[in-house]
Amino acid sequence: MKICVVGVGYVGLVTAACLAETGNNIVCVDNDEDKIANLKNGVIPIYEPGLTEIVEHNEKLERLKFTSDLKSGVNSSIIIFLAVGTPSAEDGSCNISAILSASASIAETMTEYRIIVTKSTVPVGTHKLVTDLIKSKTKVSFDYVSNPEFLKEGAAVEDFMSPDRIIIGTTNPDVREIMRQLYSPFMRRSRRIIFMDPASAEMTKYAANTMLATRISFMNEIATLCEKLGADAELVRQGIGSDSRIGASFLFPGVGFGGSCFPKDIHALIYTGSQQGTEMKITKSVWQVNIDQRDRFANRVIHYFADQASKTVLAVWGLAFKAKTDDVRESPAIYCIRKLLEVGLKIKAYDPEANSAALAALDNKIDTYQNSYDALDNADALVIFTDWQEFRNPDFELMKKKLKKPIIFDGRNLYDPAHVKNQGFEYYCIGRAATPSSSV
Ligand SMILES: NC(=O)c1ccc[n+]([C@@H]2O[C@H](COP(=O)([O-])OP(=O)(O)OC[C@H]3O[C@@H](n4cnc5c(N)ncnc54)[C@H](O)[C@@H]3O)[C@@H](O)[C@H]2O)c1
Repeated sequence: MKICVVGVGYVGLVTAACLAETGNNIVCVDNDEDKIANLKNGVIPIYEPGLTEIVEHNEKLERLKFTSDLKSGVNSSIIIFLAVGTPSAEDGSCNISAILSASASIAETMTEYRIIVTKSTVPVGTHKLVTDLIKSKTKVSFDYVSNPEFLKEGAAVEDFMSPDRIIIGTTNPDVREIMRQLYSPFMRRSRRIIFMDPASAEMTKYAANTMLATRISFMNEIATLCEKLGADAELVRQGIGSDSRIGASFLFPGVGFGGSCFPKDIHALIYTGSQQGTEMKITKSVWQVNIDQRDRFANRVIHYFADQASKTVLAVWGLAFKAKTDDVRESPAIYCIRKLLEVGLKIKAYDPEANSAALAALDNKIDTYQNSYDALDNADALVIFTDWQEFRNPDFELMKKKLKKPIIFDGRNLYDPAHVKNQGFEYYCIGRAATPSSSV
């Protein structure tokens, strides 16, 4: 099929590359001309495992093209995906201005029937706004589909290629069939394509993200209580995760969730609830627990070095909001480092992929290193924010030699407390035995 993808970020580029990989012809459109110029020169703007290979492969076969000319994309494609950003507005609502301006431009450009599919996360009711907007600008017929995306950064290609399910929000049976055909190559394992109306599809995305964030905040709250009572949150996690009614995913206690989706989608759902006179009590608590969790972790470090903050240098491992991505949007690491910098602590950081994004987010107020061990030289302690695989089994002997004091604050529970203690470290983690009850 001939397809246009508008918005070439994490979701748009992965969608375009994976659809090209199954034989479709894709034109990618973005209004960021530098990004398009870089993509044309083979520079992939994001780190995502497996993405570079399929982008290069499909570009070579001319199934994947990049342009900032919306018209050429719209005119040559039957299906147009919208994958532009929908960030938080000041009041917590979802800012859909990019969706509306892209839709208006598509309406002014299209000369024949088109299927317009929204992959971006948009508030319930956006389908109606976009449909009305397009109708007000053109007499050309079209169908609108809400097709929210559920991929995870760090495993985006894998998730797109083998999704748990695909949600298609349209009531038109012919369009359902076209969408089924488009997605059939990705349905070989699960065959789960769920059709619904557009409003339910839009709500499904918010409900899914909020449910996942709820599990993380719930586990973090349990971990706080474990610390106070001398229970081990890791054992509790295993104990509840093995219950098939509960399942093991998204139950790891840590420094809190972040990223470009959970925080903004939670705020948007709370805002939507307030507009409808429905207070989203659980969702509000999920966010509050997340903020408390980040603060508790940062404050633990701050209190430890309270008397000597200006003389203290901390090594940091991990800046991305999670492993296998270079994305630092709403990263707990960035949030906590800002607090550490405020009290005068100095930071030497290493992240395998996110050093430059973090430097930009923190106005170059930290030093970054190309190697995890170089960041440790003469630091007073190590603070871990991201669960990259390469941090899981480090050379503790070398770490001890490089650090001034053998102290680790672990925001991801990467190590066995007893083992690290045997290696001679003071070890503070989340909800586990080696962490003393926090007064914070
Ligand atoms: N990142 C994720 O993990 C993820 C997962 C599922 C859903 N989503 C949702 O998908 C959407 C996109 O997220 P993302 O992380 O890919 O965003 P992103 O910021 O990485 O990319 C958005 C792209 O859209 C482009 N753009 C903005 N306005 C445009 C316009 N009018 N015309 C053409 N291009 C335009 C930007 O230049 C940018 O390249 C959001 O709604 C997000 O909530 C994201």
